[in-house]
Amino acid sequence: MKKGLVCIVVVVGFLLSILVVSGAFAQQKAKDEYAFKVPYGEVKFTHKKHAETLKTDCVVCHHEMKGKKPGEAVQGCKSCHKAKAEGKAGSSKDAYHKSCKGCHDEAKKANKPAGPTGCTQCHVKAKK
Ligand code: HEC
Ligand code: HEC
Ligand code: HEC
Ligand code: HEC
Repeated sequence: MKKGLVCIVVVVGFLLSILVVSGAFAQQKAKDEYAFKVPYGEVKFTHKKHAETLKTDCVVCHHEMKGKKPGEAVQGCKSCHKAKAEGKAGSSKDAYHKSCKGCHDEAKKANKPAGPTGCTQCHVKAKK
């Protein structure tokens, strides 16, 4: 009886470790596109286009990757930037606005191709 229990614990532990390891690998890949579904209106973000076509350096957005080796775990913004500011990290709204809108605003000022800067150009309300 006791031996059987130990066996089950070992097998379950092994299966869990596989889950954790594969989860860690899955985290290393960004989706081609993200949709931030927030009350003010959904924001679409073309990760692949921003990173690959526009050739934006990863650390411009993933500032926490600075000084890390390529291939080291990338964390999503919201693992630090929560709904409300916590510690030194500002709220997710401020972080995204400063990053996304900030770059679009700068580019527009410099008369370069830019992404949307108006509220409802980024935030699209669901049609009723
Ligand atoms: C224009 C800004 C921007 C650039 C450039 C960019 N990313 Fe991202 N990346 C994001 C945003 C925003 C997310 C979504 C994060 C979230 O959901 O919090 C993301 C998500 C990710 C994720 C998934 C993280 C997770 O935990 O789900 C990975 C991995 C990633 N990016 C890697 C990269 C790499 C590697 C590069 C450079 C080749 C890069 N990114 C360039 C903004 C950017
Ligand atoms: C590991 C935690 C962590 C992650 C992940 C992270 N941030 Fe930050 N971020 C911080 C902290 C802490 C600060 C404030 C101190 C500093 O500037 O480093 C900050 C500052 C910023 C600032 C500057 C705010 C200002 O007032 O000037 C922006 C913009 C920003 N983050 C955007 C992002 C975006 C976009 C992502 C995801 C692509 C992201 N951050 C991921 C922790 C993080
Ligand atoms: C470092 C600069 C930079 C950052 C940071 C950035 N963008 Fe952009 N974005 C651009 C440029 C440049 C274009 C214009 C591309 C074009 O005209 O082909 C663009 C275009 C767009 C578009 C228009 C549709 C498309 O995919 O071309 C949307 C929507 C957009 N960005 C959303 C975002 C969001 C949301 C974020 C933050 C998560 C973000 N951007 C961060 C530079 C940036
Ligand atoms: C470049 C794209 C972009 C522009 C322009 C922009 N936002 Fe955002 N906004 C975002 C992103 C990305 C988030 C973060 C979504 C998340 O936290 O998942 C956000 C979050 C928010 C939130 C918090 C989430 C919610 O629905 O309560 C509010 C409110 C908001 N934006 C209002 C505005 C207003 C008002 C303007 C115009 C002054 C504006 N935004 C312009 C991309 C943009």
